[in-house]
Amino acid sequence: MGCFPCSGESSSSKKQERKRKVNSSDNRNRRDDREKTQADTLKVSPPKFVKEDHAVVNQSAAEVASRQLDDDKVPCNGDARTFKFIELVDATQNFKPENFLGAGGFGKVYKGHLPDTGEIVAVKQLDHNGCQGVREFLIEVLTLNMAKHPNLVKLIGYCAEGDQRLLVYEYMPLGSLEDHLYGMSSSTGDNTDPRPNRKTLDWNTRMQIAAGAARGLEYLHDQMSKPIIYRDLKCSNILLGEGYHTKLSDFGLAKVGPSGDETHVSTRVMGTYGYCAPDYAMTGQLTFKSDIYSFGVVLLEIITGRRAIDNRRTGSEINLVAWARPLFKDRKKFHQMADPALGGQYPVRGLYQALAIAAMCVQEQPNMRPLIADIVTALNYLASQKYDPNIDPIHCPNIKSKRDGEQKRGMGKDNERTKLED
Ligand SMILES: Nc1ncnc2c1ncn2[C@@H]1O[C@H](COP(=O)(O)OP(=O)(O)OP(=O)(O)O)[C@@H](O)[C@H]1O
Ligand SMILES: [Mg+2]
Repeated sequence: MGCFPCSGESSSSKKQERKRKVNSSDNRNRRDDREKTQADTLKVSPPKFVKEDHAVVNQSAAEVASRQLDDDKVPCNGDARTFKFIELVDATQNFKPENFLGAGGFGKVYKGHLPDTGEIVAVKQLDHNGCQGVREFLIEVLTLNMAKHPNLVKLIGYCAEGDQRLLVYEYMPLGSLEDHLYGMSSSTGDNTDPRPNRKTLDWNTRMQIAAGAARGLEYLHDQMSKPIIYRDLKCSNILLGEGYHTKLSDFGLAKVGPSGDETHVSTRVMGTYGYCAPDYAMTGQLTFKSDIYSFGVVLLEIITGRRAIDNRRTGSEINLVAWARPLFKDRKKFHQMADPALGGQYPVRGLYQALAIAAMCVQEQPNMRPLIADIVTALNYLASQKYDPNIDPIHCPNIKSKRDGEQKRGMGKDNERTKLED
């Protein structure tokens, strides 16, 4: 398993604009550039909300539904509630700063309390100056109203009153995977905001999270009556509940997948830099395998503790996939890929297998990437294989492993960090 069939190199990006959507405005006819370009060809710019052919709702349906939302009617058969703006003002104590949970392209998110049901909720308020908009709001409501699964965040309701657009979700008390992996606020994107009470995710929890995210994606791809391409899979959209129960969130970019003989959906390139499949970025042809690539990037982040795009690094280390590809080919280097924060506490076989899955997902050729059902099977198995550092050795590239837990744990961490930072 030391060598994986990964073709080509992924170029690193020049810019990091994590909070913006990638929008490569017109690259559908640029297939001749395939060898030259990957992430570098993506123009990172504030997103445009464009008419698309096969969105979850098409433009005219969106307009109709938008009018329905304005009239306080639920646009389809789901059970999302409609809220008056004043109810959400009350629920969040007038969007009190203490209730602030984070912010993204859509706007700010606040913790709230619904007095009638006693539910704790997360209220996301559209920022009209922000880079996402009413169209995403609508697609989010319609998608989540149709999609119900234990690994998808529950939409409790929405408010569409005048200019106000708010989404009300179940509250996920452990925040996002991004917060846990990088220990910082996803809203700021810098490393000056370490959140308290976040402990390093151990190996077992990481595999549990990866398996939960995969099951959420499997539901979208394989189990919905109209299968959906998510298009926005990334660590900040993977939310965590009690016991690290994993749920996918943010479906504003979701699209109904190709049907019948169609192999893809043609669309403008939207997504987040670093997670966008190179084939989709170059051609605008969206497939279920575009999500699989994004999943592979997320899995790599879970294993390595490295960001998809990290501008604090240099050269090929900026882009996680570009950094990982040569390492996939050399089994001896696999240990270098494990997150140093794990302190060497991971199962060797489990690491190899998780890396094998990630490597298959980020392959350049979309048809070489696995189906989500196979990924779920593999990750469910990995998550079921519990690692116990008191039984299994602690791994460190520089020192011989011993079963002497406490002593080694400290040494492993320090030595591994030193080696990797050198
Ligand atoms: N249901 C929720 N429960 C608890 N916290 C949440 C919930 N939804 C969002 N958050 C918090 O709010 C933050 C911002 O979420 P949001 O989805 O608006 O932005 P993002 O995912 O960082 O970026 P993007 O707009 O590109 O999706 C999340 O990282 C998370 O910490
Ligand atoms: Mg999000």
